[in-house]
Amino acid sequence: MGSFLFFLTSFFFYPLISGISFSEFVYPNFTASYLQFVDDSGAFLFSPNGAFKASIYNPEGQQTNFYLCIIHVASNAIIWSANRNDPISKSGKMDLTREGISIFDENGNLKWSTLKLQEAVYALQLTEMGNLVLLDQSNASIWESFHHPTDTIVLGQHLHAGAMLSNAVSGYNLSTGDYKFMITSSDALLLWRGQIYWKLSMDTQAYMNSNYVVNYMAINKTGLYLFGGNGSVVVTQVSLSLSNFRIAKLDLSGQFTVLSLSGNDLKKEFLGPVDSCRIPSICGTAGLCTADSTTNTPVCSCPAGFSAASNSKGGCLPSDASHSLPVACDSTNNGSQLNSSVESYLRLGYGMNYFSLLFSEPRYDVDLSACQNLCSGDCSCLGIFYDSASAHCYVLESELGSIISSNTLGNDLLGYIKVLVGQRRRSSTGSPGNQRKGFPVVALVLLPFTGFSLLVVLGLLWWRRSNIIMLREIKLGQPNSLSLEDLEAFNILGLPQRFYYEDLKAATDNFKNRIGSGGFGTVYKGILPDKTMVAVKKITNLGIQGKNEFFTEVAIIGNIHHVNLVKLRGFCAQGQQRLLVYEYMNRGSLDRTLFGNGPVLEWQERFDIALGTARGLAYLHSGREQKIIHCDVKPENILLQDHFQAKISDFGLSKLLNPEQSSLFTTMRGTRGYLAPEWLTNSAISEKTDVYSFGMVLLELVSGRKNCSVPSQSRSVVGSNSGGGNSSSSSGSGLVYFPLFALEMHEQGRYLELADPRLESRVTSEEVEKLVRVALCCVHEEPALRPNMVTVVGMLEGGIPLTQPRMESLNFLRFYGRRFTEASMIEEQDKQSNIMPHQHAVTATSITGSFTGFSYISSQQISGPR
Ligand SMILES: *[C@@H]1O[C@H](CO)[C@@H](O)[C@H](O)[C@H]1NC(C)=O
Ligand SMILES: *[C@@H]1O[C@H](CO)[C@@H](O)[C@H](O)[C@H]1NC(C)=O
Ligand SMILES: *[C@@H]1O[C@H](CO)[C@@H](O)[C@H](O)[C@H]1NC(C)=O
Ligand SMILES: *[C@@H]1O[C@H](CO)[C@@H](O)[C@H](O)[C@H]1NC(C)=O
Ligand SMILES: *[C@@H]1O[C@H](CO)[C@@H](O)[C@H](O)[C@H]1NC(C)=O
Ligand SMILES: *[C@@H]1O[C@H](CO)[C@@H](O)[C@H](O)[C@H]1NC(C)=O
Ligand SMILES: *[C@@H]1O[C@H](CO)[C@@H](O)[C@H](O)[C@H]1NC(C)=O
Repeated sequence: MGSFLFFLTSFFFYPLISGISFSEFVYPNFTASYLQFVDDSGAFLFSPNGAFKASIYNPEGQQTNFYLCIIHVASNAIIWSANRNDPISKSGKMDLTREGISIFDENGNLKWSTLKLQEAVYALQLTEMGNLVLLDQSNASIWESFHHPTDTIVLGQHLHAGAMLSNAVSGYNLSTGDYKFMITSSDALLLWRGQIYWKLSMDTQAYMNSNYVVNYMAINKTGLYLFGGNGSVVVTQVSLSLSNFRIAKLDLSGQFTVLSLSGNDLKKEFLGPVDSCRIPSICGTAGLCTADSTTNTPVCSCPAGFSAASNSKGGCLPSDASHSLPVACDSTNNGSQLNSSVESYLRLGYGMNYFSLLFSEPRYDVDLSACQNLCSGDCSCLGIFYDSASAHCYVLESELGSIISSNTLGNDLLGYIKVLVGQRRRSSTGSPGNQRKGFPVVALVLLPFTGFSLLVVLGLLWWRRSNIIMLREIKLGQPNSLSLEDLEAFNILGLPQRFYYEDLKAATDNFKNRIGSGGFGTVYKGILPDKTMVAVKKITNLGIQGKNEFFTEVAIIGNIHHVNLVKLRGFCAQGQQRLLVYEYMNRGSLDRTLFGNGPVLEWQERFDIALGTARGLAYLHSGREQKIIHCDVKPENILLQDHFQAKISDFGLSKLLNPEQSSLFTTMRGTRGYLAPEWLTNSAISEKTDVYSFGMVLLELVSGRKNCSVPSQSRSVVGSNSGGGNSSSSSGSGLVYFPLFALEMHEQGRYLELADPRLESRVTSEEVEKLVRVALCCVHEEPALRPNMVTVVGMLEGGIPLTQPRMESLNFLRFYGRRFTEASMIEEQDKQSNIMPHQHAVTATSITGSFTGFSYISSQQISGPR
């Protein structure tokens, strides 16, 4: 209504242009300029119902940059601009002739045109969707603004594969910025100078429905979609709440946003990347971005050794004036910068991250100096990040962006920025005191973030809702009557290969060769048609919770690749069947090798297993953007391959943990004997919980028997008899709680008594001491006193000195030990009275947790938080 009134007033006030009616058409010869219109919008054309207008417009009311724009009337949002890189002044004009649209500056110089058209123009139309269309004599479209998107697409517009959106430099300068949003044949990406910093498929809200080649992206009233099959198949979707008007826009700061109209405002409902510190140049070159935890806004500063640059571009420069940042080589500077200067590296310290690490392929298995060598002398290399847990080396290229300060504990990433020594600086630095100067970007980003918390809540609600929908659909799907839709409907982002149930049945010879049973079900050996051996885990006892877990597990672990983590090859979700297909580990699980009657594990093998397991856990905890807590570290979940390479399995129990979530982690899970005390006391579960379990596994590697088991007669010699009569861990019946025994032997320096007697003399006291001391540090009752896994890796490797276990945080073992002996005696009696094995489990549980309310926890009963 408002726009209709506006339309009427425009009509009556400006009879000058009444030659063309304010309908959806204007005809040649027509001229429009800002000065023609007294109203402040310069509109000369409206869509039929007035939702959009075309005007010569000066964004933000400034008086220098005027653009031919299409504007959404209700929100006043610019959805398209013709001459974004060549603004005109208020005396410039737009001409519509039979040759097309041309825009001239005040001196009559051509600034922009629709270029050469196939047909002569009959009319110019603005459609109700906001598309500016040039029509020929037969009303056929010969040119459309929809085919030349700038930074926005609207309902009904298609962004085709290969097409891009570019951000505007600022609210009033619509020039093409450095960020691009691009549709590829399989995904939607955000790029900064050719480097990916976000992928739609990796977003938690995106669902991949099929593997069709993507033709275009579009938004409608219920979501954002990538379509394939000429628009007939949804490849990827982001479901959004019903809205009559929404736009998708690459905003000024480099975030891709979907906004919907609410009143007269556009509200953000989807954005990527969510963490604005992941926007490559958010804080300028070498600027340090920290996400303020309370306001969730990015805060810019400089890393140690850097000071704010005083130039207009912001960012940071080395504080030492004899150091300068290299300029990446290109055709004009072919490494020539290097000839007069020496390269050096400024170390960023721990807790730093970089946007490209998630998307670039690292060099594997190199040490830090080899990683630096990869960079030195290569003018295209601007710095490195080295992941000591996984021995991955990342090389920073193209142009140096901002550094991300990551507050996740135990980060094992070390960043180094290359500097040139002895070359004159191109621009001077400001004094270290004015670090906040030179960050114009911050202001731009702060504003959108005020509504961010709400968005997170909405996002979580959405996530819940979509999971529920997904589960309902699965339930409807009948086994053995699988439609194409059924196959395609439930994929989540980044899922690995999907198998048919029948194929897995054939591969496992109708589930004949059982090789183990884990928390969620039974594992069978299988051979795929391509002759590769796999371990197929058939999941049983699936409650509704279990289904959720299944999909979460698949989505998470499908994208985790580390040499010490078992690789998920694929999955099957058909009818009620849920299966996971893992790579096959030919040496089985550690418990069989360690506690079984086969050949004894030699010390070096045990050590290699300990180190591999530690590296795998370190990667789960800090090698990825989101921390993953395993929650069930135990020998059954450590699988072995030739050469005793250890791989951790079953991180299906683990959950992606956001910093906010980690303290809300209250559901119990895990396996008795390896459960950290905080499980029993309702304290927060963190990655330190895994560290505790790892410490328990270390002790078992040392002794060759289960910590909580009653030693068998043949092997209990050392533990019970020579443990000393004054040892409280031993009782007259030959029972010993090994962790307590280890503590006592550590206090007395008698490490060799802890070693697996089967090793006889093939291990030294020093070797045992190393593992025992690390293990005791890991099982500190106070989680904060436990080392993180990166430190554990360092201590095992020898790079980090061993620390002394803290007695005050180990005394709880004495309590556990007493409980153990009592419980074991009860167990002895139970054995004599022949009770059910299941009840044994209940009794055994009371060994580690006799607290009220702590009943038997089986993995089947465990359900985790989201
Ligand atoms: C528009 O102007 C051009 C040149 O001034 C003229 O040749 C042409 O006939 C005009 N077209 C119309 C439709 O008036
Ligand atoms: C073109 O469209 C207009 C408006 O809808 C209509 O009046 C006109 O007759 C159409 N011309 C042709 C050739 O179809
Ligand atoms: C707009 O931004 C571009 C790119 O940063 C810059 O070159 C240009 O001078 C700016 N124009 C105005 C009028 O501010
Ligand atoms: C939006 O598009 C999707 C995919 O084509 C479709 O399933 C959905 O029904 C559409 N929504 C509306 C409101 O038309
Ligand atoms: C899409 O359309 C093109 C041309 O119309 C056709 O060649 C192609 O086979 C179609 N593809 C699909 C998947 O329908
Ligand atoms: C860059 O240097 C290399 C070797 O010095 C030379 O082969 C190459 O042609 C140069 N490239 C350009 C663009 O100058
Ligand atoms: C590189 O060395 C050459 C010859 O020594 C010299 O002329 C040139 O200026 C140097 N380039 C730079 C960037 O210092």
